[in-house]
Amino acid sequence: MLKFLSNSFEDTIHIGKQIGKVLRPGDIVCLEGDLGAGKTALSKGVAISLEISDEVTSPTYTLISEYQGICPLYHMDLYRIDSIEEFEMLGAEELLFGKGISLIEWSERIEDYLPEDKKIIKITILPDGSRQIELKGITL
Ligand SMILES: Nc1ncnc2c1ncn2[C@@H]1O[C@H](COP(=O)(O)OP(=O)(O)OP(=O)(O)O)[C@@H](O)[C@H]1O
Ligand SMILES: [Mg+2]
Repeated sequence: MLKFLSNSFEDTIHIGKQIGKVLRPGDIVCLEGDLGAGKTALSKGVAISLEISDEVTSPTYTLISEYQGICPLYHMDLYRIDSIEEFEMLGAEELLFGKGISLIEWSERIEDYLPEDKKIIKITILPDGSRQIELKGITL
């Protein structure tokens, strides 16, 4: 398990870029961490490495956003999902096991769907406001 310390939004983007370089099509990456921890910030960094020119954002009612770069990126924000059925109705399963890289915020909501070989990025807000970023299944 790798551990990093991020002291700013820019640090987190940078760590995201490093992660983006080693991800491969088909990878499923769970982004764990409290509201405002920096999950979307890190996703922006990954997108930069995948040469995605659109900005990765998290619109309130969009659960899945698809971006095109070196390979497809599926950015999922499942905070507002009510049930596994809702996830299935979105056709998300096909995306998950497709050719792109999936980055999933609030992946806890669909835990049973996720494969054993999923990668995990856990962001913890430390008392001083900095972020600890732990990687499981990812080597830089
Ligand atoms: N070290 C840091 N890394 C990332 N973001 C930071 C850091 N320090 C402060 N911030 C601020 O914290 C916020 C992180 O927001 P972001 O949307 O990335 O969080 P999130 O984990 O995706 O939240 P949500 O669960 O609501 O989707 C930004 O406003 C950012 O400026
Ligand atoms: Mg977010």
